[in-house]
Amino acid sequence: MRIDLVPSIEYINDNALKGKTVVLIDVLRATTVITTALDNGAIAVVPKIEVKEAQDAKVENCLLGGERNALKIQGFDLTNSPLDYKKNIVNGKTIIMTTTNGTKAIHHSVRADKIIIGCMLNGKAIAENVTFDKRDVSIICAGTGGKFSLDDFICAGKIIYDCMALRECELEDFAATAFMAYRDNKANVLDFVSRASHYKYLLSLGLEEDVKYCFTEDIMSIIPEVVNIGGGIVIRK
Ligand code: MLT
Repeated sequence: MRIDLVPSIEYINDNALKGKTVVLIDVLRATTVITTALDNGAIAVVPKIEVKEAQDAKVENCLLGGERNALKIQGFDLTNSPLDYKKNIVNGKTIIMTTTNGTKAIHHSVRADKIIIGCMLNGKAIAENVTFDKRDVSIICAGTGGKFSLDDFICAGKIIYDCMALRECELEDFAATAFMAYRDNKANVLDFVSRASHYKYLLSLGLEEDVKYCFTEDIMSIIPEVVNIGGGIVIRK
């Protein structure tokens, strides 16, 4: 089983995704939000690229969530803080979500055979799932504004590290770099990630609790998966 790592959505090569499982990461914060919402009983998360698309898709029993510049979108029910997606709020609801990088990255990955949503919360479960499956894996970091971001990179490193603990995988060079970065910093991941620009930006907004939560490891075992329903994509567990 081979694992490669894509630094940001700018580097996605559609043809290279065919036949693979994609693990999509936007640890700060979109994929952490999706995982949390589904773990807390949301029926599904519907990722949209544009704000208007999300607004137009809202029907009964839906909540609108997401961000622009990490801030709440006017008229939306929820921000992009995973701490908003508590059981008493999301249980039994469908979440229509639009974020700057994360939901876009999901739409850019649809050529893969299978797309699953990863973050620190479910990292080990993701590793178990892909190593059991044995299909080649492409881990895609959403990045920030098309650029590489340290936060997604170290999360990818954690998932690769967990895969390697389960079976010997062939790592392409960038995946091997992420593996070593996590291996050498796993005792202090928050310190490592504190150099990331999006981390600093979230802290400047007073979102320290979000960041701490997003870097909590292995507290969930769900595998959110992107499925195609009637021409549109939906994420379910
Ligand atoms: C994104 O998709 O760009 C984000 O998850 C940004 C954020 O809300 O932190």
